[in-house]
Amino acid sequence: MRVKHFLQFKDLTREEFEYLFQRTRWIKEKFKRYEPYHPLFDRTLVMIFEKASTRTRLSFEAGMHQLGGSAIYLNTRDSQLGRGEPVEDAAQVISRMSDLVMIRTFEQAIIERFAAYSRVPVINGLTNEYHPCQILADIYTFIEHRGSIQGKTVAWIGDSNNVCNTWLQAAEVLDFNVHVSTPPGYEVEPERAGLYGHAHYEEFEDPMEAARGADLVTTDVWTSMGFEAENEERMRAFADWQVDVEMMKVAAKDALFMHCLPAHRGEEVAAEVIDGPQSVVWDEAENRLHTQKALMEYLLLGKVQA
Ligand code: CP
Ligand code: NVA
Repeated sequence: MRVKHFLQFKDLTREEFEYLFQRTRWIKEKFKRYEPYHPLFDRTLVMIFEKASTRTRLSFEAGMHQLGGSAIYLNTRDSQLGRGEPVEDAAQVISRMSDLVMIRTFEQAIIERFAAYSRVPVINGLTNEYHPCQILADIYTFIEHRGSIQGKTVAWIGDSNNVCNTWLQAAEVLDFNVHVSTPPGYEVEPERAGLYGHAHYEEFEDPMEAARGADLVTTDVWTSMGFEAENEERMRAFADWQVDVEMMKVAAKDALFMHCLPAHRGEEVAAEVIDGPQSVVWDEAENRLHTQKALMEYLLLGKVQA
């Protein structure tokens, strides 16, 4: 049987996401009632980090423990992964000793190569190109606050990075629209974003126009991990792409604000917005835990009855 991976958002279908959202709700409610639930008893998750993390590590590690399993953390500094062992060899070995693997790395090609040689499901915990677990949590958070995202408009302000690419893929899978505004030279690259077409997003030169009427306004850091050498140039290029109070005013009256975090107040977002009443960033961060528990359960056990 073919192993099911979650390497990019479009690896799962709309019907599978609908199941995951419903399952997340059940798992979250049970957790909030302090009721133990251990469907992954004795299972082991290996987490490989080639970049820093707070939320991703914590949510996967805590989530696996809460589901009855255990999690092992590896990083490039103190494993053989940083000393040139081929990814394919690492995949063969790691997947013989574990049930599930989560990887945060640089190029998407690395995780694809790992998955091709893995006996167990592989989850993308962020690559230069994609961050599917983040958007899974973001959309679940939107649904909790506003109901279905189908037909809604999401404004993406800033860099066409891994998080932006994943929003664009999600729009195709779940049938909503993204209004994107990036500085010149940082536009969406449809092929890199892994898009089927142009039907679910529109590009705007003016970030205010992208935000106009949007149901959700979202952004991310101007410089992603791995791109630090470009930081000074990016600071200059992105100066007008800050989500501020004026921008939230042109969005829909009940628009939400999201940010995957970590955030830089005064750069991509004004403090008044991220700390203001429309911001749901703490729910968004918490939902990484609940949605990934549903994801891990699904990848290992398939659909289970509540
Ligand atoms: N949003 C997110 O992935 O956060 P971390 O980098 O802290 O994991
Ligand atoms: N785009 C950011 C997201 C961090 C969670 C990065 O890749 O650094």
